[in-house]
Amino acid sequence: MHDDMKKNIQDAIRRMARDKHAIILAHNYQPPEIQDIADLCGDSLELSIRAAQTDARIIIFCGVRFMAETAAILSPDKTVLLPKADAGCPMADTINPEALTEWIRKHPGMPVVTYVNSTAAVKALTTVCCTSANAVKVVNSLAEDEILMGPDRNLAAFAAAHTTKTIHPWDGCCPFHDALTPADVLAQRQRHPNALFLAHPECRTEVLDLADIITSTSGMLRVAGESEYTAFIIGTEVGLLYPLQKANPDKIFYPASEALECRDMKKITLEDVAESLEHLTGKVKVPEDIRVPALKSVERMIAIR
Ligand code: 13P
Ligand code: SF4
Repeated sequence: MHDDMKKNIQDAIRRMARDKHAIILAHNYQPPEIQDIADLCGDSLELSIRAAQTDARIIIFCGVRFMAETAAILSPDKTVLLPKADAGCPMADTINPEALTEWIRKHPGMPVVTYVNSTAAVKALTTVCCTSANAVKVVNSLAEDEILMGPDRNLAAFAAAHTTKTIHPWDGCCPFHDALTPADVLAQRQRHPNALFLAHPECRTEVLDLADIITSTSGMLRVAGESEYTAFIIGTEVGLLYPLQKANPDKIFYPASEALECRDMKKITLEDVAESLEHLTGKVKVPEDIRVPALKSVERMIAIR
C-alpha cells in the first residue's frame, strides 16, 4: 500500500476508535502497520490483563481468535471485535472439549493447566490457564504434584524442567515454533557469534537447550532493551522483529529462521480493522455456559500473574 494511503486509513481508524470509545489491542506478532495504530501491543498475558481492565466500550482485537475470545470471556458487557473471522491458531485446534474430557477422565484428581492458546470451550474445562510468561509460576501455584498440561507439549516440557512436579503433556504444538531446529540456530550463531539467542518456550527442548534466555514475546522486548548486548538472534515468530528494532534502533536483531512466520497472525489488514470498527463486524461472543467456567480459569491465572 502507498504510504499516503496507509497514513490516511491509519488516521481514519484512530479517529473512529476515539469517537466510538474503542481500544485497539494488538499482539506483538501483528504486521507493523497494525502495531502502529494500537493502543497497546503486548504478549498474551499483557493483552488479557488490559482487556480485563479497560473501560472502553469496544475492544478491537488484532491477533487471533483465542485472544479475542479471552477478551470476551473477561468483558462480557463490551463489544469484542476480531477483524478477520478466520484468524485462528493451529495449536489451539489440537485439543477440543471432548478429547480433554476423556483425558481428564483417565487421570482422576489431576488439575489441568491450559495454555491460553486454546478455545473458550477448552478453557471452561480447565483448572487454571497460563501463558508463556507465567507457565512455571502457574504450575508451582498448584497443590497437586501431578498435573495435566496442554495443548503445547513444548511449553509443558519447559515447565517440567523448572518444577519438581510431574507434568503430563498434551501432544500439541505450534507448527512454526516446533519447526525451528538446532541446526537453524547453530547456523545463525556461527554467522553472528556475538549475538544473544532468545527463545520462546514454544520451541522444542533441543532448541531451548541452546538459548541464552527463554521468555515470552514481551519478555524478549524487555531483555533486548535492558541488555548490554547489541545483537540478538530471535527464536520466535518474525513479527516480533519490528517492535524490537523500533524500540532499539541502535541494536540489531536476526531471526533464528525466516520460516518462523505465523500465517494467521498476518491475516488482519488495515482495511479489515476499518471495516470492522465502522460496521461492528466480526463480533466475538462466548455463550454464558462456557464463559462463566472459562472466566474462573482465566481469572485464577491473572491473580497469579
Ligand atoms: P506470547 O504470549 O509470548 O506473546 O506468545 C503468544 C503466541 O501465540 C506465541 O506463539
Ligand atoms: Fe498459534 Fe503458533 Fe501462531 Fe502463536 S505463532 S498464534 S501458537 S500458530
